[in-house]
Amino acid sequence: MKLRSRRMILFSVLPLHALDDNVPTDDMNHSMVKLCSPCEKIKDKVFTLVGTFNGIVLMVMVVKDKRLMKGVYDTRMILYNPFTSESKIVRDPYSPCLKPNHTYGFGYGVTLDDLKIVRFRDHDLDVFSLKTNSWSTSKNFIPNANFMNEVGTFLNGFLYWIDYSSDMTILALDVNKMAIWRAPLPPYQGSDSTYTLPRLGTLRGCLCTIKERDNNVFDVWVLEKQGVKKLWSNICSFSIGLEGNYVNKYHPINILDDGRILMVNDSSGQLIIYDTSKHSYKMLNSSRTFQSLRTLRGIEYVESLVSPSDLCCV
Ligand SMILES: *[C@@H]1O[C@H](CO)[C@@H](O)[C@H](O)[C@H]1NC(C)=O
Ligand SMILES: *[C@@H]1O[C@H](CO)[C@@H](O)[C@H](O)[C@H]1NC(C)=O
Ligand SMILES: *[C@@H]1O[C@H](CO)[C@@H](O)[C@H](O)[C@H]1NC(C)=O
Repeated sequence: MKLRSRRMILFSVLPLHALDDNVPTDDMNHSMVKLCSPCEKIKDKVFTLVGTFNGIVLMVMVVKDKRLMKGVYDTRMILYNPFTSESKIVRDPYSPCLKPNHTYGFGYGVTLDDLKIVRFRDHDLDVFSLKTNSWSTSKNFIPNANFMNEVGTFLNGFLYWIDYSSDMTILALDVNKMAIWRAPLPPYQGSDSTYTLPRLGTLRGCLCTIKERDNNVFDVWVLEKQGVKKLWSNICSFSIGLEGNYVNKYHPINILDDGRILMVNDSSGQLIIYDTSKHSYKMLNSSRTFQSLRTLRGIEYVESLVSPSDLCCV
């Protein structure tokens, strides 16, 4: 099994698509048949990938519930093992409509078995504990925030989001104590004319952000310990494509760990991985292209035989 524990990237599109970026031709397509109960229809081709644990990916899909009125959509949380195609719908008493200021996070508190799904729903905080199979809600937990549908980044017991409202800040949540605080983003430079928003991720165990400074020039910042304080440092800047060639646009999709950044070439829909430690990029050889998908995301997971039911103890 160890030999088969490949690191794969799952993309947020239907039909499901995952690829191993080290084996160019070995990509696979999954069918979605098992994922939804017969009464439901998935609305969008694109869905949200929240996080991953032991080879299981948490995703949120917008579904149409036939039992409800026409045109009523709500969300479904699904734990999915892309390797075995096994899935499980997470019981959700709220199943809210997807709004840009709703967001999700997946992480654990003190110990690995203390897995939690976290959701900001308007001003409330919903927490689902997989250990106790129970939901809890804290009313009026957060003031106004806009997450632009981006999910939380989990690192060492904390979930981090960017609040994209007027003066952007980082919103951090202690998954154990369920306490929030705000932290500043790096002092980004350059023009605001670019339309790519900063993104969060982790890079070799540190919180990290990527932001387009000028046309196709990207800055990568890492939150590092400097003495007793944690400060942002600009660890690298890079551009892709020919110098001065503004015809093709490139967009960051995700910050993968190990200092690699998954990008998409908007002109061709081809995937690119930029490696910040080698200062080079390579094109991914995928049978599928990803054109005009601003909301495309990819998530790294390690293949496992863990069943989604094993994550929920009841
Ligand atoms: C890309 O994949 C095709 C088959 O899908 C293969 O023939 C080709 O050699 C691959 N190219 C690279 C650079 O791996
Ligand atoms: C989210 O947006 C809705 C309107 O779409 C608003 O009523 C609500 O207060 C917002 N919530 C937060 C936390 O900003
Ligand atoms: C992006 O796509 C365009 C159009 O196919 C192509 O000309 C360009 O070389 C691509 N960029 C890279 C870095 O491959």
